[in-house]
Amino acid sequence: MTRAERLAEFHRSLERATAEPEFLDRFYKSFMAISPKIQRVFEGTDMARLKRKLKSSLHVMTLAVDDAPGADDYMRFLGKTHRRLNLDPAHFDLWKGSLLKTAAECDPEFDDRTQAIWAEVIGNGIELMRAGMASRSSRSASE
Ligand code: HEM
Repeated sequence: MTRAERLAEFHRSLERATAEPEFLDRFYKSFMAISPKIQRVFEGTDMARLKRKLKSSLHVMTLAVDDAPGADDYMRFLGKTHRRLNLDPAHFDLWKGSLLKTAAECDPEFDDRTQAIWAEVIGNGIELMRAGMASRSSRSASE
């Protein structure tokens, strides 16, 4: 399977999964159930707004794997905006685990191959966010 074919498959799976109206609620519920610490990070957050933004950022992750101009920068910048939340590095892996679990529940055609493609696209996005969090550039969102 070429990269273009994998991306097309990811996009189809994302569309199928998000066609389930509960997709984002299920994801956040599953993620926050992991620990009280994670739940506390979201206290005071406008979840309706966050769900809209998260859905868009999943599409940007697709663009980032597809070398679309600016997509990498957006993901790195998004990493910077997360600095002020003082997350543990492990939180990102847990985030990915909850997202893939929710995708498996909501995409009726999800299989091992789809799972590997989600892991590739989301893993790439998370690496960019981690790089953004770690970088010292003056375009910081948190300072
Ligand atoms: C690849 C992983 C992640 C992606 C793609 C992502 C995506 C996003 C996006 C798009 C926003 C909105 C940014 C804004 O406009 O201000 C956001 C905010 C937020 N994220 Fe994440 N996020 C990720 C990981 C995490 C993790 C691991 C946590 C917590 C453990 C987390 C907690 C939050 C919180 C609490 C906010 C909202 C802060 C506020 O109230 O403004 N995120 N995230």
